[in-house]
Amino acid sequence: MADRSIDQLCEKLLERRERASQGGGEKSIAKQHEKGKLTARERIGRILDPGSFVELDAFVEHRCSNFGMEKTVFPGDGVVTGYGTVDGRIVYVYSQDFTVIGGSLGEAHAKKICKVLDLAMQNGAPCVGINDSGGARIQEAVDALSGYGNIFFRNVKASGVIPQLSVIAGPCAGGAVYSPALTDFVYMIDKTSVMHITGPQVIKAVTGEDVTSEQIGGAKAHNQTSGVAHFFAEGEDECYSQIRKTLSFLPSNNLEEPPFKDTGDDPKRADISLREIVPTNPNKGYDVRDVISRVVDGGDFFEVQPLHAANIVTGFARVGGYVIGIIANQAKVMAGCLDIDASCKAARHIRICDSYNIPIVTFEDVPGYLPGLNQEMGGIIKHGAKLLYAYSESTAPKITIVLRKAYGGSYLGMCSKDLGADVVLAWPQAEIAVMGAEGAANIIFRKEIEASANKEEARTEKIEEYRAAFANPYVAAARGFVDRVILPEETRPALHQAIVMTAGKNELRPRRKHGVMPG
Ligand code: HXC
Repeated sequence: MADRSIDQLCEKLLERRERASQGGGEKSIAKQHEKGKLTARERIGRILDPGSFVELDAFVEHRCSNFGMEKTVFPGDGVVTGYGTVDGRIVYVYSQDFTVIGGSLGEAHAKKICKVLDLAMQNGAPCVGINDSGGARIQEAVDALSGYGNIFFRNVKASGVIPQLSVIAGPCAGGAVYSPALTDFVYMIDKTSVMHITGPQVIKAVTGEDVTSEQIGGAKAHNQTSGVAHFFAEGEDECYSQIRKTLSFLPSNNLEEPPFKDTGDDPKRADISLREIVPTNPNKGYDVRDVISRVVDGGDFFEVQPLHAANIVTGFARVGGYVIGIIANQAKVMAGCLDIDASCKAARHIRICDSYNIPIVTFEDVPGYLPGLNQEMGGIIKHGAKLLYAYSESTAPKITIVLRKAYGGSYLGMCSKDLGADVVLAWPQAEIAVMGAEGAANIIFRKEIEASANKEEARTEKIEEYRAAFANPYVAAARGFVDRVILPEETRPALHQAIVMTAGKNELRPRRKHGVMPG
C-alpha cells in the first residue's frame, strides 16, 4: 500500500470539517436567515467568548435506514455541541441545527446532547441548550423518544447542581418542551420562538378552539401569561446577552460561591432619596424597583420574569460586589398582594437562589393574599404553601427588609424570622400586624363603634388607636422579630453588613431523600 501523505490526510480532515460546518448546506442556511434566524453555530458564537468554542462530535452520524434515511446523512446529525467560555468561565453548549432535517432529534443527536450534559455535570459547569427543532425525528421512532427520555433524566439529575439554561430559538413542540421546562431558565425570542404541547390543528380537532401558534406558544404568551418562560427578547442578540448576564450572577455549580465582582460602588453609600419613594400611607402605590435600584450596586437590577405575575418582583443584583437574589412585593400592581402566580414565581426563584448559594433578600410590603373564588379553587392554599416551603427549606442566607406592610399570613410568607430569616430589618413606616389598622379596628371595636352616637368619628378614633398601638415596627422589634429598625437611607449599608455577617452560614438539616413540595 502506498504511503499517504500527511498533507493529503490533513486536507481530507479540513474538507470534512468544512462539510460539517455547513450543516444542511447553503440553501438551508439561506432559508434559516430568510426567517430572521441565526444558524446553530452563529448562535453559539454570540453566547461564548470570541474564539473560545471547542466543538465535539462534529462527525457523528445517525445510523437509521428507515424510509430511505441512509441517503440523508449529515455530519453532526443536526446539533452542534461542545464547550467554551463566558467571561472566562467554562460553559457547555448544544445548539440544534434546523438546517439539518429540521433539527429533529434522533438517537445520535440525543447522544451528543447527553454527552455535553454529562461533561457539564462531571466538570461542574453550566450547560446552555439552544432548541430549534421539529421534535422527535419521525423516522427514528422509539429511538427518538428514548433520546428525549435520556435528556430529561439528565436535566433532572443536574437540576440544582449546575445551572441549565434553555433558549427556544425556533419551534419546540410536543414532549420536546419538557427538557427546557426541567431547566433553570427559559429564554424566548419574539416572533421566533414557539413552544407548545399540541399545535393549533390538534387543538381545533380536539376542543374545537381556534388558536394561533403565537397565542398558545409565542414568546409573549409564555412570558406574560403561562410563566413557562423567564426572559423575553425582541431579537436573538438581546437573548444571548441575557444568557451571558444570567451566567454572570451564577456560580459554575452548587459547590461554588456565586462570582464576587468589585463594582466600585461604595457599600456604605446612603441614599436619602429612599425616604421619598415609599409613601407612609399604606394605601398608596409605588414601584419597588425604585427602591431596589437605589440599594444595589450601580442600580443594576437584573429582573427575572418581569412580565409574569408583576405583583411580585424577582431578580439578581450585587451589593458590595456580592451576588444577591431578590424577591420584592410590587406595591404598584394589585397592591403587592400574593396570589397563585406570584407565589409560584417567587418560590421558584427562592429555590434557584438557594441551590446556588445566593443570599435571598426580600423587600416586603404585602397586604395579604388575593381573595376570590378563582384563587381558592385554583389552589392558592397549595401554591401559597410553596412560598412558605421554599423559604423554610432554604439554607442560603436570608435577609428580609420590611418596607411597609407586613400583614397576617403573608407577613410569614415573605420570610419572617420564624421561617428562618437570618436578619430582619424594618423601615420606620413598617406595619407588622395581623392586618391593616382599618380592618382590625372594624373587627375588634365593632360593638363600641356601633354603640357610639357618631359612628364615623368613633371608627376614625379607633383606627388611629389601633394604628398607634400596632401599625409600626416596634412591637415586632420588642419581641426580637425585627433585628434592627433602620432609616431608609441606611438600607444599603445595613444590607451589606448583613450579607457579610451571614457569608459563612452553614446550616445543616436532617438527612432525607427530599422533602415533599406542596402542589
Ligand atoms: C423528521 C422533520 C421533522 C421531524 C421537520 N422535519 N420536523 N423530519 N422528523 N420531526 C424536516 C422536514 O420534513 C423538512 O425536511 C425539514 O425538516 C424542514 O422542515 P419544514 O417543514 O420544511 O420547515 P418549516 O416549514 O419551517 O416547518 C417547521 C415545523 C414542521 C413547524 C417544525 O417541520 C413540522 O411541523 N414538523 C413536524 C413537527 C412534529 O410533529 N414533530 C413531532 C413532535 S412530537 P425537507 O427534507 O423537506 O427539507 C415530539 C415528541 C417528543 O417531538 C416526545 C418526547 C417525549
